[in-house]
Amino acid sequence: MSSPKMIQYFPTEIFFILSALLVTNVYAANILALVVTPSPSHHIWNRALTLELAHRGHHVTVVTPDPEKQKYPNYTEIIIEGMYEEVIENYDYTAMSKESILQNYASIFQWGTDGCEKGLQSKGAKQLLELVGKQSFDLIIVEAVVDECFHAFVPLFGSPPVIAITAYSLPPWAAEMTGSPNTPSYINVGNLPYPQHLTFIQRTINFIVHSFVKAYRRLIHLPKQHEIAQKYLGKNIPPIEDIEKNISIILSNIHYSYDYTRPLTPSLIPIGGMHVKPAKQLPKELQEYLDDAPEGVILFSLGSNVRSDKLDGGKRKILLEALAQLKQKVLWKWESDSLPDQPKNVKIAKWLPQNDILGHPNTRLFITHGGLLSTQEAMYHGVPVVGIPFLADQFINLQRNVVRGVAEKLDISNITPNEVLSTLTKVLYDPSYKERMKVLSNQFRDRPDTPLNTAVWWTEYVIRNKGADHLRSAALELSWYQYFLLDVITVLSVGFLILFMIIVKLLKLLKRICLTSWKETNKQKRN
Ligand SMILES: *[C@@H]1O[C@H](CO)[C@@H](O)[C@H](O)[C@H]1NC(C)=O
Ligand SMILES: *[C@@H]1O[C@H](CO)[C@@H](O)[C@H](O)[C@H]1NC(C)=O
Repeated sequence: MSSPKMIQYFPTEIFFILSALLVTNVYAANILALVVTPSPSHHIWNRALTLELAHRGHHVTVVTPDPEKQKYPNYTEIIIEGMYEEVIENYDYTAMSKESILQNYASIFQWGTDGCEKGLQSKGAKQLLELVGKQSFDLIIVEAVVDECFHAFVPLFGSPPVIAITAYSLPPWAAEMTGSPNTPSYINVGNLPYPQHLTFIQRTINFIVHSFVKAYRRLIHLPKQHEIAQKYLGKNIPPIEDIEKNISIILSNIHYSYDYTRPLTPSLIPIGGMHVKPAKQLPKELQEYLDDAPEGVILFSLGSNVRSDKLDGGKRKILLEALAQLKQKVLWKWESDSLPDQPKNVKIAKWLPQNDILGHPNTRLFITHGGLLSTQEAMYHGVPVVGIPFLADQFINLQRNVVRGVAEKLDISNITPNEVLSTLTKVLYDPSYKERMKVLSNQFRDRPDTPLNTAVWWTEYVIRNKGADHLRSAALELSWYQYFLLDVITVLSVGFLILFMIIVKLLKLLKRICLTSWKETNKQKRN
């Protein structure tokens, strides 16, 4: 009679034995994660990895502006305080939505410079500096976003193996750090909202933006980061570009189901959507709210950078007028206590468990700013999207899914109640959006392993092998003219030219010889 009980316990036992084996396979490593970007969404993604590493028995020290709400074992935090205040004071994200793409990139770099200056002045940075010489690490994780002055801690801690992570899709500079092709003829650089196949004009603009970003980072941004690092950490800090050369692998928030196809070197690991998890049970009140929604629920959230309650009053009115006419319930992530003119079918909350709500079967539509993480969560759970993009990559994220027929876009600068209503109704009642999103969802989930497991595997790979120099692309050692074979083409062209000239000369000579001998024979014949 005990056999059913045995069976019940058996898989759990096996699971524990297996995970113990997996953990002992790589010894418990000391890992330092320098994840200082002042953007909450980046940390939703970053912490998926750092927490999982601690969970698997590693000792993780995380340097972050974004403390966890609770304590975890083997997980130490060093808080870089004051970063968010700086960002909130100086950067108006809605105003940034009106910038040109070049200005936008310049703003992103400037944001990195300001963040760095603030970050290295913090008490947290001083606390970290005190660990130098006292603590050693088997691995350092840095971000391949901006705020590169923090890379300076890598040589200070004796240059152990280092890997980089980027929640921000795959910035052009991160691709180049691994030697992965970044050719502007077919690889859409960064935030341009272009389709996969570029027209002549798009290729031209793509090339200009690409060159601008590359030059700006190299000539202005990195030297500034280096200067700030030297100011706070000492004159001996090597150039940031040299520290970046020691990065073994980059874990990037991309996946082919969603991002355009492009070649990646083996040291660039696509682990898009690493943070997404199957939906959990919701808190009681929310669970009841969603369960009791025969017409379905719309989730409305503009993410963590753009605050809904800071929307212009006129725009808010237009949105509410449209929402009030729907039969669906609407859950709006609204950051203040009250919403003026709140319709009956709209419920507000300052924070919502977005992933778990998207996973609820009654959730029929997601109104989003189109941030990458939100886009990935919508795809994972198969929920169609209406997007209101504001800045950076939000336009391109949305554009891709509009083309795939799983999303529609609203332009916040000129919306009308009718347009909002018709867009929402279209996505709610035309079943093709949902059907295509289901297909996309299957492609997004269909992988040899979960992105989180893949990320942990590669992190431990670098620890086990004490770096991954053997993965380094030879392209990184070439200068640009060598990379494009311009030296070879020049030598060959000159060679061919000389050969051609010799042949022409020889032919001319041959002709002259033939002519004279022919004339000679003719003369002789006539005589
Ligand atoms: C913390 O790390 C130690 C050794 O590295 C390990 O034995 C212990 O199980 C870890 N604690 C937790 C709760 O994971
Ligand atoms: C790169 O790593 C090597 C080996 O650990 C180290 O000797 C070198 O100083 C590092 N380079 C920089 C610029 O930190």
